[in-house]
Amino acid sequence: MNVRIAPSILSADFARLADDIAMCEAGGADVIHVDVMDGHFVPNITFGAKVIETVRRLTALPLDVHMMVREPERFFDDFASAGATGMTMHAEAAPHLDRQVARVKELGCLAGVAINPATPLAAVEEIAADLDLLLVMTVNPGFGAQRFLEYTVDKVARARRLLDDARSGARIEVDGGINRDTIGRCWRAGADTFVAGNAVFTAADPRGEIGALRERCTETA
Ligand code: DX5
Ligand code: ZN
Repeated sequence: MNVRIAPSILSADFARLADDIAMCEAGGADVIHVDVMDGHFVPNITFGAKVIETVRRLTALPLDVHMMVREPERFFDDFASAGATGMTMHAEAAPHLDRQVARVKELGCLAGVAINPATPLAAVEEIAADLDLLLVMTVNPGFGAQRFLEYTVDKVARARRLLDDARSGARIEVDGGINRDTIGRCWRAGADTFVAGNAVFTAADPRGEIGALRERCTETA
């Protein structure tokens, strides 16, 4: 699958959100990653439908909404109406994945499931064929700028095999601590969609960083 770079607006300057989204577009971002946190599933609170709607008006890029919330089904309709392209819920917070994945698709969105670093891949095994995206968290969710957990690289490789065995067309996304040093290992392990918050927005040249991250995936090992 092709490499997709997904800057996370969690690290954007919200006073200049329009400029930051325009920068992502100019840098060649493929997707905008939108981190919704509820203060329950994760200790932090961010934003909801209102901000998704605002971002939707600022760009035509796909909006990948990462739902770090309990009972994600409470928000499916609102987020779909706000313009989400895809919604990714956490397996740990969504015990009825079969029904929940089906509902996201019914709303016309791509359906993703995320798993925390300590959650075994078995949590998604039975529904692998139904997924559009599997998000393998490479940090514990809740905050930007955390250190990449090395042991998740092997999990990405096993996720790739699991999806292949299930003949699933799902993409594999990695999220957390993705930067020039870590992205290549994840790509070689089988990830194709790379969330990057801190690495892009704190770079000396944020716009150029998006391309620099992409290049690390095309370099040979
Ligand atoms: C973490 C979020 C991430 C976060 C990644 O809980 O899900 O999307 O923005 O940030 P960095 O790239 O800074 O680790
Ligand atoms: Zn995220």
